Amino acid sequence: MDTPQTLFDVKGKIVVLTGGSGVLGGHMARGLAVAGAHPVLLGRNKKNLDRAVKELSSITSNVTSYECDVLNEQQLTSTNDAIMAKFGRIDVLINAAGGNKPEGTIRIDENIFDLEIADFKKVTDLNFYGTVLPTLMFGKSMAKQKKGSIINLSSMATQRAITRVVGYSAAKAAIDNFTRWMAVEMAHKFGNGMRVNAIAPGFFLTEQNRYLLTNKDGTLTERGKTILNITPFGRFGNPEELIGPVLWLASDASSFVTGTIIPIDGGFSAFSGL
Ligand SMILES: NC(=O)c1ccc[n+]([C@@H]2O[C@H](COP(=O)([O-])OP(=O)(O)OC[C@H]3O[C@@H](n4cnc5c(N)ncnc54)[C@H](O)[C@@H]3O)[C@@H](O)[C@H]2O)c1
Repeated sequence: MDTPQTLFDVKGKIVVLTGGSGVLGGHMARGLAVAGAHPVLLGRNKKNLDRAVKELSSITSNVTSYECDVLNEQQLTSTNDAIMAKFGRIDVLINAAGGNKPEGTIRIDENIFDLEIADFKKVTDLNFYGTVLPTLMFGKSMAKQKKGSIINLSSMATQRAITRVVGYSAAKAAIDNFTRWMAVEMAHKFGNGMRVNAIAPGFFLTEQNRYLLTNKDGTLTERGKTILNITPFGRFGNPEELIGPVLWLASDASSFVTGTIIPIDGGFSAFSGL
């Protein structure tokens, strides 16, 4: 029988992280690097990528990065080719690029009819196709190996309406469906080694939601206070708290787990608010 060390082993695994220089992607990369995996960070901005690689190099020399926009099919193709040429395989894909956009958010003094459809589309493109395209590109390399774990980023916005972020919510709800659909497709066509799951973080204070949850002086907005009131743990998540579930999904410890959406939310999704 495996020991917990071998069961959760990710040593040497090639883990591609889109949004790898973002807050949550960066923390996941760090956790994976500490556990001995080889993070491959993808991002649009070279300066941010270089900073993320520098931070990780204090933990591991096994870190690689590529400039790659998740909505650019040409860049995805060349990045996939470069990764396959360098490593010969991809073990794990984490689709962490995404997030809400201020222009796709309905302001407090606006309603849904004030939202520009172009802004709605921008946010749905990033949060839906920004996962679909890398999944089809890197997932194809993984499917050929008949082994791999894809981890998508869902959200608390998928099950119940969270005001103001309509496009983001619709796209993340589509990610839940896409996760289940791909899990079934991969299992049917490529066997038990190919798994597709999502994690659904609750509320973590990062660049994409800071403007909604905190004021400029760092105090909570009314929205921030409401969220904490209906989060049984009464606090935001710490990005480090995603690492355990990610190691579990990336490793063989979760070998019979596919098509799931795992809430990591301090109880938010379990609570009616009453
Ligand atoms: N922060 C939260 O509370 C929370 C909750 C639930 C889900 N999420 C999801 O987690 C994921 C990571 O979010 P985060 O909070 O770390 O935000 P973040 O803004 O720190 O990270 C997102 C990263 O995606 C990158 N990105 C954006 N557009 C891109 C593109 N076209 N191509 C490549 N990269 C692109 C950004 O540059 C950034 O590095 C997102 O999908 C987000 O929706 C976050």
